[in-house]
Amino acid sequence: MAAVTIKSEREIELMREAGRLLAQVHEELAKTIRPGISTKDIDTTCEQLIRECGGTPNFLHYDGYPASVCVSVNEEVVHGIPRPDRILQEGDIVSLDTGLIYKGYHADAARTYGVGEITREAEKLIRVTRESFFRGIGLARAGRHLHDISNAIADYVISYGYGIVHDLVGHGIGTCLHEPPYIPNYPQRRRGIKLKAGMTLAIEPMINLGTGEVEWLDDGWTVVTADHRLSAHYENTVLITDREPEILTLL
Ligand code: MF3
Ligand code: CO
Repeated sequence: MAAVTIKSEREIELMREAGRLLAQVHEELAKTIRPGISTKDIDTTCEQLIRECGGTPNFLHYDGYPASVCVSVNEEVVHGIPRPDRILQEGDIVSLDTGLIYKGYHADAARTYGVGEITREAEKLIRVTRESFFRGIGLARAGRHLHDISNAIADYVISYGYGIVHDLVGHGIGTCLHEPPYIPNYPQRRRGIKLKAGMTLAIEPMINLGTGEVEWLDDGWTVVTADHRLSAHYENTVLITDREPEILTLL
């Protein structure tokens, strides 16, 4: 695999700007979530928000992906394609994964929301998925190893008995949406590469209520849980430093 890039101060500043813009897009997008809205409506708003702030959607046309955001409902894990006939219902959970490119630098982040009232079981899955991200970055700093992140996420999720998706992983990010290294969310025996200040990583646990097994739908994109139980996703673009990591896609 190609080497993991270390960003210069100038590049880090641009990654910060891209990340801040994406955080704002997510905050605005969250306000659109309610019963009756279509997943296509979310995409339309998302593309508008990204372009209004001077960014370009980086998911749009990526490997032929047809939208600016992945909208994954309930048993859909990731890469749900927005559709005008897919209407959010009270009690659904919905993951919004979107990204943008700004002055040549990519940011990538995902959030999972409840639509109106949701079950306590669904609330807890969403909360633990988000918390697993923070566990993951808890020790992420220069001198530690990549798989410290993976193992911290995995230990936390396993303690709740949830299923970890193995078939999809987090990734480095920078002038490309996907750069080395892969960042698994499941337990690793090896330590992985040594983390260095200036690495920028998209860390993204995808966690299932049941088993971690997934399947692909015939549209070639949508990933669903094999047991059709709920799945949640939480992702931020993170900068590794000599101290605490900097979460670039949170305000
Ligand atoms: N956010 C996704 C990831 O982290 C990217 C989605 S792929 C796309 O890998 F085609 F939908 F853009
Ligand atoms: Co990502």
